[in-house]
Amino acid sequence: APKPYVIDQMISAKAIAARIEELARIIGAEFADTDKLVVVGLLRGSFVFIADLVREIDLPIEVDFIEASSYGDAMESSREVRILKDLRGKIEGRDVLLVEDIVDTGHTLHYVTRILNERKPRRLRTIALLDKPSRREADFAADWIGFSIPDEFVVGYGIDFAQRNRNLPYIGKVRFTDQTSGEDA
Ligand code: PRP
Ligand code: MN
Ligand code: MG
Repeated sequence: APKPYVIDQMISAKAIAARIEELARIIGAEFADTDKLVVVGLLRGSFVFIADLVREIDLPIEVDFIEASSYGDAMESSREVRILKDLRGKIEGRDVLLVEDIVDTGHTLHYVTRILNERKPRRLRTIALLDKPSRREADFAADWIGFSIPDEFVVGYGIDFAQRNRNLPYIGKVRFTDQTSGEDA
């Protein structure tokens, strides 16, 4: 069984929505000349963020998904990223925005952007709602970030802890409440 924990709110649903409006304007300006933007969600964690983001972007768009996984149910990155489900569409010569929930070690986006760049998109840009720069291992920087956060165990708004809590409408941090550890006394 998972260790008992509670979730403390870290970024409210309102703050997320306000930031998404700003980011959508920036993306609209960056891709203003596009005939159609392919917005790619990295499953599973990005599903809430991409849903809210695309509804604020005032451009012709197409939505596609790719699934990669490195953590599974573990708390630590396996550092071996696998593509579990590939894009449905071709991206050669297209304008592409890759949408991710969080950049942690950076291995996931380092790998996925390499794979996508090999397909020769016209432009590939990456946006992540959250960034934990202090955790970086792989050489990767997103073009746009919603919030830069300290090294906390976060859940909600698509992000899971062992597949739980993705449905929280806000970003929370996990606080373990193990009675025997004494750290909460
Ligand atoms: C999580 C998260 C990011 C990735 C970030 O995905 O959603 O995709 O890890 O970690 P990294 O920068 O250390 O690679 P996970 O592998 O847990 O799959 P999920 O999105 O299905 O939860
Ligand atoms: Mn993920
Ligand atoms: Mg996960």
